[in-house]
Amino acid sequence: MANLLTLLFYVEMIVASGFSLGASGLNMNYYLLSCPLADLIVKNTVNRALQNDPTLAAGLVRMHFHDCFIEGCDGSVLIDSTKDNTAEKDSPANLSLRGYEVIDDIKEALENQCPGVVSCADILAMAARDAVFFAGGPVYDIPKGRKDGTRSKIEDTINLPAPIFNASQLIKVFGQRGFSAKDMVALSGAHTLGVARCSSFKQRLTPLDPSLDSQFAKTLSKTCSAGDSAEQPFDSTRNDFDNLYFNALVSNNGVLTSDQTLYTTPQTRNIVNSYAMNQALFFLDFQQAMVKMSKLDVKEGSKAEVRKNCHKIN
Ligand code: HEM
Ligand SMILES: *[C@@H]1O[C@H](CO)[C@@H](O)[C@H](O)[C@H]1NC(C)=O
Ligand SMILES: *[C@@H]1O[C@H](CO)[C@@H](O)[C@H](O)[C@H]1NC(C)=O
Repeated sequence: MANLLTLLFYVEMIVASGFSLGASGLNMNYYLLSCPLADLIVKNTVNRALQNDPTLAAGLVRMHFHDCFIEGCDGSVLIDSTKDNTAEKDSPANLSLRGYEVIDDIKEALENQCPGVVSCADILAMAARDAVFFAGGPVYDIPKGRKDGTRSKIEDTINLPAPIFNASQLIKVFGQRGFSAKDMVALSGAHTLGVARCSSFKQRLTPLDPSLDSQFAKTLSKTCSAGDSAEQPFDSTRNDFDNLYFNALVSNNGVLTSDQTLYTTPQTRNIVNSYAMNQALFFLDFQQAMVKMSKLDVKEGSKAEVRKNCHKIN
């Protein structure tokens, strides 16, 4: 009897979540019956990885963004190049992506538990969600059921926004994917985690970008004196998911042109101010925008595949 009730409860949850998501086909409980431990396995593996190396939280969040912005959230960022195909990850815009080994560990654990069931695209989305949480950011869930894509081409990475973009260009490229200016600013708040290398911001130093605080310009120059790949944290707490990134922008301490422009441009300045003043508001808008991003151009249905190995097409 108890078992029957449990089963009925599950069936109801599945039906309820299926209906609530409308056409997209993704749903919160997608692996409830086919791989019930999926979320737990992802969470535990991310937790263990971050305990060893907290800087990987940034890597995982960024990888999910790059995955979704090119060809939709379909795991294309994980594909290795072959002799006939140069993949996204070998673009200069692979931009020092990090955390591939965490995804591999998760995939291995999931293949042991429920072979061929959980897609690499879903793993990336779940790992980004958990990285945000373990770094001190908001708790949120994401719908699952993405399938893995079969295309990964170096030339597609041209569709990523560039660090020299101004606010109008950012609003435009995010707008093309259905994001509002507010979504775009909230998502840029992911730069509360991690670092940029000198090569990504050195063009602001000669000639000196007038929107750059003069003291902070010296900090950036000092970083660059160690070479193009020297790292500059986006804010003073690179492993903590907080709103200090927005406070940095208000003090003209943004690292990239694409960061500081959010504050210098009237259209987005008030959003930056509101997040700098109210971390809870940032967390709320960020999680909503992340869920939206995680649904970009997802592939579904029985024709699309669940990769056995995230590095290559089946
Ligand atoms: C608004 C447009 C964006 C631009 C132009 C941009 C550009 C960049 C650049 C140039 C870097 C540094 C790369 C390097 O020098 O190695 C970086 C790092 C990073 N980006 Fe973005 N990004 C944008 C939006 C986003 C979004 C939407 C997310 C995630 C939701 C994100 C997450 C990250 C993270 C976490 C890092 C640090 C990575 C690490 O420390 O390994 N970025 N971004
Ligand atoms: C990123 O691309 C460069 C070539 O532009 C390549 O040397 C490097 O190995 C790539 N990094 C990763 C992690 O794939
Ligand atoms: C933003 O950059 C574009 C392309 O370089 C340029 O046409 C536009 O005038 C710039 N907008 C502002 C407000 O600076």
